[in-house]
Amino acid sequence: MRQPRQVVVLGATGQQGGAVARALRDRGIPVRALVRTPEAPAAERLRSWGVEVWAGSWEDPASLDRVLAGADALFGITTPFEGIAAEVRHGIAWVEAARRAGISHVVYASAAHTDESTGIPSFESKRKVEQHLRDSGVPFTLVGPVYFMENLLTPFALTRLREGQYVRWMPPEKTVQLITVEDIGRFCASVFAHREDFLGRRVDIAGDALNAPLLAAILSRLLGRTVQPVSLPLESFPVEGELGRNVAATLAWMARTGFHVDIPALRRQYPEVGWRTFAQWAEAQDWGELSR
Ligand SMILES: NC(=O)c1ccc[n+]([C@@H]2O[C@H](COP(=O)([O-])OP(=O)(O)OC[C@H]3O[C@@H](n4cnc5c(N)ncnc54)[C@H](OP(=O)(O)O)[C@@H]3O)[C@@H](O)[C@H]2O)c1
Repeated sequence: MRQPRQVVVLGATGQQGGAVARALRDRGIPVRALVRTPEAPAAERLRSWGVEVWAGSWEDPASLDRVLAGADALFGITTPFEGIAAEVRHGIAWVEAARRAGISHVVYASAAHTDESTGIPSFESKRKVEQHLRDSGVPFTLVGPVYFMENLLTPFALTRLREGQYVRWMPPEKTVQLITVEDIGRFCASVFAHREDFLGRRVDIAGDALNAPLLAAILSRLLGRTVQPVSLPLESFPVEGELGRNVAATLAWMARTGFHVDIPALRRQYPEVGWRTFAQWAEAQDWGELSR
């Protein structure tokens, strides 16, 4: 097993990139992060973990070239938050930079099932980045996470929890597969450490699968207050702009088809990840004034 000399982590001030940087550090693999705001607290936190922080942006090819010089591996993400077209442009920018730098392994955290016909704009954009990566000749691994457990920590979800509700836009009995970003980090670090086993592969990953009543029951037990599962019709989802349409398409697909990763097989094949259940993740959170 040959560990990479140095991994450049994109999006390290965010959820997935941060988890990957921590997991690589835990394996003793040196990390460089490209960040837009080097003076931000999130960048300071990276430095406290021993991460080299480099200033730059996916919009600035020269900054990508600088941070990749001398590194041998790259963790990449893209987001639709600045637009679907920008997601494709950003991904192509760092794939091209990886090609110029002669990077020997790119791990791209995409989303589960982007290789299927989902009709979700941000899955289509990720598929375009994946295709560009495949065509680039840069050795790669695609990692496809399902719905993040951390989505429960968004202001909207926390407000509803305070009101004793767990809200979803799908039938209550519909099971949703979940993963914690910590396990995305651990899995990706393991992919970097076992490069040969993962080259050219796509692995979709999930840690748990629950319907709304089960999830609400776990929260009720943990928070010491009743949390009711609330199912809203998809038509009531507030669709605003391109991102709103994207979330609505994601919810529609989740209700219709949904994530369907083979969780038992993952647990068997990659036990070192730990694969936390929703209950384990929720127990580890500080719910503050939400818990009685
Ligand atoms: N939530 C889910 O359930 C789920 C499930 C599967 C897949 N996904 C996908 O996961 C992705 C989001 O990942 P995440 O939650 O880790 O994102 P996140 O926490 O919002 O972090 C995004 C990171 O990207 C950086 N970034 C954004 N634009 C940049 C640019 N132009 N140049 C340099 N850095 C830039 C941000 O830097 P700054 O700190 O400077 O902003 C931040 O570090 C999305 O594509 C989403 O579709 C989400």
